[in-house]
Amino acid sequence: AESFDEECDYLFKAVLIGDSAVGKSNLLSRFGKNEFCIESKPTIGVEFAYRNIRVGDKLVKAQIWDTAGQERFRAITSSYYRGALGALLVYDITRKSTFESLKKWLKEVREFGSREMVVVLVGNKSDLAHHREVNIEDGRSLAQLEDLSFMETSAKENLNVEEAFLQMITRIY
Ligand code: GTP
Ligand code: MG
Repeated sequence: AESFDEECDYLFKAVLIGDSAVGKSNLLSRFGKNEFCIESKPTIGVEFAYRNIRVGDKLVKAQIWDTAGQERFRAITSSYYRGALGALLVYDITRKSTFESLKKWLKEVREFGSREMVVVLVGNKSDLAHHREVNIEDGRSLAQLEDLSFMETSAKENLNVEEAFLQMITRIY
């Protein structure tokens, strides 16, 4: 990772959204500090992380907002989306209900997000394939229908996490 204090060429904001316990905070801690927590607590309100990433010859500083999936812990939704250029919309491949919620999340994205916002659909917990309730094809076809990028990830096993964030960042720049 690039050091925090290095001069950066671009600063951008992205948001992590999706139902509670799909693994948003762990995707971010994996991406930000290469850490995973088996017993992480639900996010209250919003938390932030920064990471500098090199895209070609440019240094991009990503400010990532990790939002609460639980309705009762969510604050002012519109502020999450204000100025955000990218979003990772996360579901859990072992819980169909989190996939079915995507409709609601996409509605929120369309309502509060800017029209140009790059959204990457992420099916997390791919390490739990034996508990799978959502086929990879279902994720892929929803993404195609809604014009999103798509990836399955595992924050636990560190599979595709970097790729998902980079997909979003490189589509922006
Ligand atoms: P909220 O903050 O409530 O919105 O939840 P969240 O989406 O941030 O979920 P969080 O990252 O806290 O993870 C919830 C649970 O899922 C924790 O017990 C994690 O250890 C677990 N988890 C997250 N990612 C993975 C993964 O890729 N694989 C497995 N097996 N477990 C995961
Ligand atoms: Mg969280």
